[in-house]
Amino acid sequence: MTHYFLLETSEKTICQRTIIVWNNMILRKSTKILFMVMICSYSYILFYINKIIQKHPTNLSIFQHYFNNRYFHQSDELQKQITLKLSTSCKEKQNLVFIKCMKCATETMATVIRRFGYTRNLSFVLPVGTHIYLGWPYLMEKIDYRPPSCKNCSTAYNILMEHSIYNRSIMRSLMPKDTVYITSIREPYDRFLSTFHYFKIKDYVVLNETDYVSQYLNDYHKYEAIYKSKTFSEHYCIPRNFSLTENLMAHCLGVPLGFPAGRKSIASYSTEEITRYLQDLDNEFSLVMIVEYFYESLILLRRLMCWKTKDIIFRKVNIGGYRKTDVSNNRQTEQNRQLYKSYSRIDYILYDHFKRALLEKIKQQTPDFFDEVNHFRKVQAEVTEFCDNFYQNKSTKKCISVNQTSWDNAFNYTGEDCKLMYTNLLTAMQNRYDSVMGKLTVLPQSTDRRTC
Ligand SMILES: *[C@@H]1O[C@H](CO)[C@@H](O)[C@H](O)[C@H]1NC(C)=O
Ligand SMILES: *[C@@H]1O[C@H](CO)[C@@H](O)[C@H](O)[C@H]1NC(C)=O
Ligand SMILES: *[C@@H]1O[C@H](CO)[C@@H](O)[C@H](O)[C@H]1NC(C)=O
Ligand SMILES: *[C@@H]1O[C@H](CO)[C@@H](O)[C@H](O)[C@H]1NC(C)=O
Ligand SMILES: *[C@@H]1O[C@H](CO)[C@@H](O)[C@H](O)[C@H]1NC(C)=O
Ligand SMILES: *[C@@H]1O[C@H](CO)[C@@H](O)[C@H](O)[C@H]1NC(C)=O
Ligand SMILES: *[C@@H]1O[C@H](CO)[C@@H](O)[C@H](O)[C@H]1NC(C)=O
Ligand SMILES: *[C@@H]1O[C@H](CO)[C@@H](O)[C@H](O)[C@H]1NC(C)=O
Ligand SMILES: *[C@@H]1O[C@H](CO)[C@@H](O)[C@H](O)[C@H]1NC(C)=O
Repeated sequence: MTHYFLLETSEKTICQRTIIVWNNMILRKSTKILFMVMICSYSYILFYINKIIQKHPTNLSIFQHYFNNRYFHQSDELQKQITLKLSTSCKEKQNLVFIKCMKCATETMATVIRRFGYTRNLSFVLPVGTHIYLGWPYLMEKIDYRPPSCKNCSTAYNILMEHSIYNRSIMRSLMPKDTVYITSIREPYDRFLSTFHYFKIKDYVVLNETDYVSQYLNDYHKYEAIYKSKTFSEHYCIPRNFSLTENLMAHCLGVPLGFPAGRKSIASYSTEEITRYLQDLDNEFSLVMIVEYFYESLILLRRLMCWKTKDIIFRKVNIGGYRKTDVSNNRQTEQNRQLYKSYSRIDYILYDHFKRALLEKIKQQTPDFFDEVNHFRKVQAEVTEFCDNFYQNKSTKKCISVNQTSWDNAFNYTGEDCKLMYTNLLTAMQNRYDSVMGKLTVLPQSTDRRTC
């Protein structure tokens, strides 16, 4: 029976022993061969899947392809029925806190969340006057927000989503018990680049090299100190000594990093200690969206909140016009990314942690998850085109009709919907508040705590 010994014979492996034991057993030859064939094909399949997954560990379209095509096609109809049942027994959630951190697609998310609340007359925690920040980048205080506008409702506020720093005790005291906490984060170096261009930091610190991003990062502390010593223009309203580039996402999520002066900083803590800190955030936030998986994150949001497909249609706003190729070539970009990692260590720990958590969440979804993602991509593309045409008076259609799916009923998207999508709803809500409650006096703030 030597033909079974395909392995090296120099050492008696477990496998060899097994085969020997097996040879000594009284089994019919045909049974043995059948068994062997089964084991071989099973290992081959495992090997094949493993190869795909190892090649692209985070490429979701691979999973998607793998799920949709290989396993779940036969049970599509069954799956649809199950999901439809689920979605009809799912009660829309309306109370939420969204931590809005700059350059993390959060203004785009704001077009979703503001519209959701506005069309339902929900009560928002609104910045005072014409401010756009809820105290940001300081912890929120009473002088930063308006009292609730509904005098007689069961809960005072439904939604807190304008720029604020997450703080558990402040927000719990303001929001209903069943509030869902959500935020959105982004690959830290990409977020840095976006911020760098959006706030024109190059001009504030005067960089003269062609590859000015490399110049900045190579002399990081010097240039940080220059722009931090200035007060940004009224429009941006960034206080002195505040870093827009360093660990900003962690700061928005309430991680104490020494701003404002006198606040504790955990920047020098070990990775383990920081991870423990993040574990608390993990427990308090139901969803941390990842910009690199924006569509997947939106579907998770829809499912978590039991919202409609129409609710999560968005408009891209504040997308920087810069191209990365303007700045550095690929090799330099990678070098810069590594360099930046050393300056924004906490943001990287944060990002890696929540990216892993998001991918895990996706794996736990029903098998039709990627079908829904793809369906939503199509709807979003159609609506974007429709609204663009609508605004250029080139529209040939009166509305878009989206058919019923296993996730949602049919709905129409009209020009009125486009108009709402393009309206500045923060201003609209502040005006609506003023017309109901009358204009409130905005208390002056001390100059060392300037916020808008
Ligand atoms: C993911 O896989 C798909 C299909 O193989 C491929 O087209 C796509 O470029 C991959 N994306 C990334 C980011 O690797
Ligand atoms: C919201 O309030 C406006 C004005 O008070 C009212 O006309 C509208 O019907 C309300 N909408 C909902 C969904 O309650
Ligand atoms: C306000 O609440 C009180 C007590 O719950 C109730 O009696 C009253 O009818 C409410 N008023 C309005 C306008 O809803
Ligand atoms: C949250 O806010 C409270 C009240 O302002 C403050 O005492 C506490 O230190 C803050 N927590 C963090 C983690 O900053
Ligand atoms: C940029 O400015 C510095 C100091 O003013 C100077 O030493 C350097 O040569 C300049 N670089 C370029 C590319 O002009
Ligand atoms: C900014 O930082 C400098 C140096 O650390 C300090 O002297 C100054 O008082 C700070 N200014 C503000 C407004 O916090
Ligand atoms: C579209 O039509 C409206 C009303 O007829 C007009 O006010 C507007 O300027 C037009 N917009 C464009 C982009 O042509
Ligand atoms: C929507 O449903 C209608 C009628 O059932 C059908 O004719 C049409 O092709 C469907 N549209 C899409 C995009 O599937
Ligand atoms: C969409 O609009 C068409 C006519 O424009 C109407 O017949 C249909 O009932 C509408 N569908 C929904 C879901 O409102």
